[in-house]
Amino acid sequence: MESSKRFDARAARPIQRDSFIEEWPETGLRLFPGPGDPAPGIVVRDGRIVELDGKPESRFDMLDRFIALRAIDPAIAMEAMALPALAIARMLVDIHVRRDEVIHLFRGLTPARIVEIVALLNAVEMMMALQKMRARRQPFNQAHVTNRKENPALLAADAAEAVERGFAELETTVGVARYAPLNALAILIGSQTGRGSALTQCAVEEALSLKLALAGLTTYAETLSVYGTEQAFRDGDDTPWSKSFLAAAYASRGIKVRFTSGTGSEALMGHSEGKSMLYLEARCLMAIRGGGSQGVQNGSISCIALPESLPDGVRGVLAENLIASLLDLELASGNDAMASHSEIRKSAKLMLQFLPGTDFIHSGYSSMPREDNLFGGGNFDTLDIDDYNVLQRDMRVDGGVRPAGREEILAVRRRAGEAVQAVFRELGFPEISDGEVDAAVAALSSADMLARDVVGDLAAAERFLGGGGNAIDVIRALAKSGFADIAEKILAVQKLRVSGDFLQTSAVVLPGAKVVSAINDPNDYEGPGSGYRLEGERWEEICAIPQAPDPRTIGVGGGVDAPVLAPAGEAGVSQEAADVVIAVGPAFGTALQATILGLSHREVLAELKSGIEAEGMRPRIVKVRASSDCGFIGYSGALLSGSSIAIGIQSKGTTVITRRGLPPLNNLELFPQAPNLTLESYRAIGRNAARYAKGEPVLPVPAQIDNMARLRYIVPTTILHLKETAEVVSGGAALEMEVNS
Ligand code: 5AD
Ligand code: CA
Repeated sequence: MESSKRFDARAARPIQRDSFIEEWPETGLRLFPGPGDPAPGIVVRDGRIVELDGKPESRFDMLDRFIALRAIDPAIAMEAMALPALAIARMLVDIHVRRDEVIHLFRGLTPARIVEIVALLNAVEMMMALQKMRARRQPFNQAHVTNRKENPALLAADAAEAVERGFAELETTVGVARYAPLNALAILIGSQTGRGSALTQCAVEEALSLKLALAGLTTYAETLSVYGTEQAFRDGDDTPWSKSFLAAAYASRGIKVRFTSGTGSEALMGHSEGKSMLYLEARCLMAIRGGGSQGVQNGSISCIALPESLPDGVRGVLAENLIASLLDLELASGNDAMASHSEIRKSAKLMLQFLPGTDFIHSGYSSMPREDNLFGGGNFDTLDIDDYNVLQRDMRVDGGVRPAGREEILAVRRRAGEAVQAVFRELGFPEISDGEVDAAVAALSSADMLARDVVGDLAAAERFLGGGGNAIDVIRALAKSGFADIAEKILAVQKLRVSGDFLQTSAVVLPGAKVVSAINDPNDYEGPGSGYRLEGERWEEICAIPQAPDPRTIGVGGGVDAPVLAPAGEAGVSQEAADVVIAVGPAFGTALQATILGLSHREVLAELKSGIEAEGMRPRIVKVRASSDCGFIGYSGALLSGSSIAIGIQSKGTTVITRRGLPPLNNLELFPQAPNLTLESYRAIGRNAARYAKGEPVLPVPAQIDNMARLRYIVPTTILHLKETAEVVSGGAALEMEVNS
């Protein structure tokens, strides 16, 4: 094989560690409708669906039956199915067709027709449709809160931080199942610390999940899994009816429920029946709607790497998100489990949900480092959060997160850690030491936490739940131990639960126990000038990332030391052949004292001078006042120079060597990137200027090439140049300058 270092270097890039395969439709390894999918169609007789996507009722499997009975409105079906797929596809991106008209039509469509319609859209059209179709007006976000050591102080601190950062839902799970009550309790306390509030859940086995919710230790449930084929369902001993019953159990007690589905699960389980992933997902989503759920978490979720291995996979995942919204379901749109090794690919994929906005853009953003994420890694984690905040600000997009400063974050982490410590003490659980709280506040990950008494913790968890322990015990313990504020917030959410207030579609509970949902904040997008616009306080909050200071406060160009240079009369034209002019900018050595690199003007001048003197020539310092432009400063200096050679230098350090007779924009040598210039460079510039003056052959000063310099220095460059320009005296004569001792 011919060698190529470029191919070798590319082979080492992260993207090469992702898996890619060709389609294999017969095993379901294909996203969009293919040879194994049924043709869309419906037959309604006496108000009853007797044929669905080409299959007569006599051959219905349990999913067909459930969908025909529960998920399609026969009264709408004939009208909706009579419309061509393309006509409906165009409605999705037509701002003159309102969301509720689309929702109405989709109550009458079959799974095969729905997939046929979305397949007609390209990725941008799907995003346009999602922007219009998501249920709630304002997008929010969900965070994962877990850690390998199941440390309660760390869980509480991470939960508090997540809420402080704006996450509206927190989800935990367990490594060891019996830890569930303690993990649920820890994030419940954290979720109501600081600005509070958020809803919380603990994803564990279904009966235990339900138990925790009934005890008030969690307030929503999400992992009610649905699959698109009968066999995949059966493997989990489930049916659409059993899942609906479970959902009703939650909802009957005021607990928010959404289901989970997503492309790839059936193929992964070997039960795709040769159908495309999207067709099967459409069936899942219809079963979810038929089951009465207000919402869904989809976007492949735990299976994400499988669709991403296939052509059209990322678009396919966007399509499944869109279908959920078209069915009027609240959508938590994935972006949770690890999907790629490539940061480029991860971010690009995220944009498909981030830009249009969904009800929850991430159905689990890892609020701790991904090594502690017990939900498949966390595609984005707490170390990415500053990038995320910047993306919101860059694109004026509400990604559901808010920037928060160090002090604010550390304060809520400590308060949450102390609150859970107090509750453990009150309830007679194994002690959480002060040192443990300190460690939880400061930790990067659970690697920074000492091991706990696991046996003692598990026994306490069992005693607590087994003895009927519930949220009231937690509230009481908090109230007794100086955490009445947290107690009251937990109580407020419990009251909302009893009144059923967050059963509304797409509900979130925000600070002040305020419920925002698709009922009181419905998506009203109808094109430019409508829908959610990032404005007012929320926009200001997103703009205010901690690392963005007021540019007026940026200190540049050194302190307010005594000026390096003092004027000594108007500068004249020299007749001396040894005269080499150092022409400085209007602020150089007076209003400003240092270059962009922080080199003092005094030292820069000393180096230039000594370079000139070493060649036997005589430096003369002249201040140009009429312009702050580097070329013009050098040009003006050359007009005065006895040798005809001048060095022009701006306060920020940008330098030119020029000769009288050259036009202002031409020169002998230009050093446009001041950040690359060291004191040594200035000495060499002085030396070269003198050699030009002597008419000797000159090797240009080698300039360093740093392609990042402009990126790093463009803000101080701008500010230094503004200050230089402020010193310009229009038409002012150049001045002879002396260096103060
Ligand atoms: N389909 C159905 N359920 C899924 N889950 C994750 N991905 C899928 C999917 N594609 C559910 C599983 C898992 C939980 C995190 O979410 O129940 O345990
Ligand atoms: Ca989730």
